[in-house]
Amino acid sequence: MEETSPTTPPTEVREPLISVRDVRATYKTNDGQLPAVRGVSFDLHAGEVLTLVGESASGKSTIALAILGLLPSNATVTGDISYRGQSVAAMTPQELRHMRGTEIGMIFQDGRAALTPTMRIGEQIAEAFREHKGMEMEASLEAAVEVLGRVFPDPRRVADAYTFQISGGMAQRVMIAMATAMKPSVIIADEPTANLDPAVRHEMLTAIEELRDAGTGILAITHDFGVVARLADRVGVMYAGVLVETADVRTTFKTPKHPYTFGLLSSIPTLAPPRGKLVAMRGNPPDLMTLQDECAFLPRCSKAIGACRTDPEPSLTPVLDSSEGHTVRCYNPMAVPFRD
Ligand SMILES: Nc1ncnc2c1ncn2[C@@H]1O[C@H](COP(=O)(O)OP(=O)(O)OP(=O)(O)O)[C@@H](O)[C@H]1O
Ligand code: SF4
Ligand SMILES: [Mg+2]
Repeated sequence: MEETSPTTPPTEVREPLISVRDVRATYKTNDGQLPAVRGVSFDLHAGEVLTLVGESASGKSTIALAILGLLPSNATVTGDISYRGQSVAAMTPQELRHMRGTEIGMIFQDGRAALTPTMRIGEQIAEAFREHKGMEMEASLEAAVEVLGRVFPDPRRVADAYTFQISGGMAQRVMIAMATAMKPSVIIADEPTANLDPAVRHEMLTAIEELRDAGTGILAITHDFGVVARLADRVGVMYAGVLVETADVRTTFKTPKHPYTFGLLSSIPTLAPPRGKLVAMRGNPPDLMTLQDECAFLPRCSKAIGACRTDPEPSLTPVLDSSEGHTVRCYNPMAVPFRD
């Protein structure tokens, strides 16, 4: 069956900032081919926050890196990724650098590791101003201090510091400053709140909200359903390299249809239904190298029926009588709401 485009609001025709169509990414490893992403499609529009959620190793970061053309050389990518209608695969190295430098800002999963240890923080930001805005040295350093001033009370001190001289929380703030320095149209934030203390986490989320309100399209990857609840317009649930459910955030929390989404929500203490028992999700994600041609969630699923054992992996299809854009990949979706 033809897969739907899960995140396109069907009521209005808007050109997406980012369009991902049937993207597959496979890593070559010493043990064989690892299909990390197995056919993912979505759109990201201006002023929208799309969150991708799912357990570790479900392929979330691989998608982010594929969009930016930053996957390592052992990865092979097929399918189409475009930015404002232009195919990323067809971009020249110069166009790719321009897109990454000025159009799409990236907040990496580990801010500290993403910074260059041998350069002062200010110099790292200034370099981007010289390359993409043609600024002279002195002006670029001043521009870097101005950008750092949006997230630090003492930007000159941070500009002069090396990565090893700043804390993890400060490194995340530097990431925000760098990612937004060129006023990009899109921000990709990979676990933007991981390992942050509550105050810095709040600042990070506020910064992302401000960007969204200014019209930036945000792709936020997270394990944290608190982040989803606060930020997301739309949610894509990833499992074993595919989207298993997509919906607007209200529908995701209220009437999720995939047993995996239901299980994820049920395993969060603050979200479990008052009269429901808290269920730790049983089992582990499958080994991607030995996937069978069946639903990848089958070994963990309490809703499995005959077709789940005999038929190939189900497609992502629209949920009848639900909100627009609600799609699920399941032969026997949940019949009860998660919350009344
Ligand atoms: N460079 C690589 N070479 C080989 N395999 C890789 C490489 N990078 C990632 N993988 C594998 O691809 C799969 C998907 O990884 P990915 O980092 O995209 O997952 P993720 O959903 O972002 O996980 P997490 O939530 O832990 O960040 C995993 O099995 C991972 O081990
Ligand atoms: S297709 Fe079957 S095994 Fe897979 S999630 Fe749905 S009910 Fe469970
Ligand atoms: Mg990741």
